[in-house]
Amino acid sequence: MTDPTTPPLILDVLRERRSPSVFDPAHELSDDQLASLLEAARWAPSNGNAQPWAFVVARRGDAAHGVLVGALSRGNSGWLPPASVVLVTLARTTPEHKPALADYARYDLGQAVAHLCVQAASMGLGVHQFGGFDHDALAAAYEVPDEWSVVSGVAVGRPWPVDERTGVDPSTAERELRERRRKPLSELAFGTRFGEPLPVRPTH
Ligand SMILES: Cc1cc2nc3c(=O)[nH]c(=O)nc-3n(C[C@H](O)[C@H](O)[C@H](O)COP(=O)(O)O)c2cc1C
Repeated sequence: MTDPTTPPLILDVLRERRSPSVFDPAHELSDDQLASLLEAARWAPSNGNAQPWAFVVARRGDAAHGVLVGALSRGNSGWLPPASVVLVTLARTTPEHKPALADYARYDLGQAVAHLCVQAASMGLGVHQFGGFDHDALAAAYEVPDEWSVVSGVAVGRPWPVDERTGVDPSTAERELRERRRKPLSELAFGTRFGEPLPVRPTH
């Protein structure tokens, strides 16, 4: 299965969302836009309403961004720097006040980021998450407390339309042409017992 869904089955913002690799290097995210993204994350549900998420916000060109760019893996160092803003995500994975909450911290953070992604898509913004960077280096540089773990990065910006692009590295542009694949529902939705496909299929 190469296409996630039949068009009518899910919301437009979900169907059209993808992880862009070519961001408009002149685009600036406004404070209001950034506030909307963070607000979407803030209102995500979480186990015990613990809200075990936090974000270090790095704007292209500022000091936090400089630190981030220096910590990127080689695979991410080409496409990522032009994005307008990067949020480095943190999960409270060893909460001393309530250790039981630790099990769900990353789950809850992921859900908050999913909310942010949907909000961004509804605003015409592109989001590309990434894990390829030196987590320890950022934890040290951002002075992240021991209770918290650096988990991922979330690059946000304006997807750069093909007809406006100049000076984009061909290998970066090529990334967006790669086929997007998903497992079929039969491999992830089960009935009666694990592995038994649920008889669910698109009907329209
Ligand atoms: C936690 C996480 C880590 C990721 N790490 C990287 C990464 O380091 N580099 C990268 O280019 N993409 C990364 N991605 C993006 C995925 O490769 C991408 O979401 C996936 O291929 C599906 O493509 P789509 O988002 O366009 O549907 C990451 C995504 C997530 C959620």
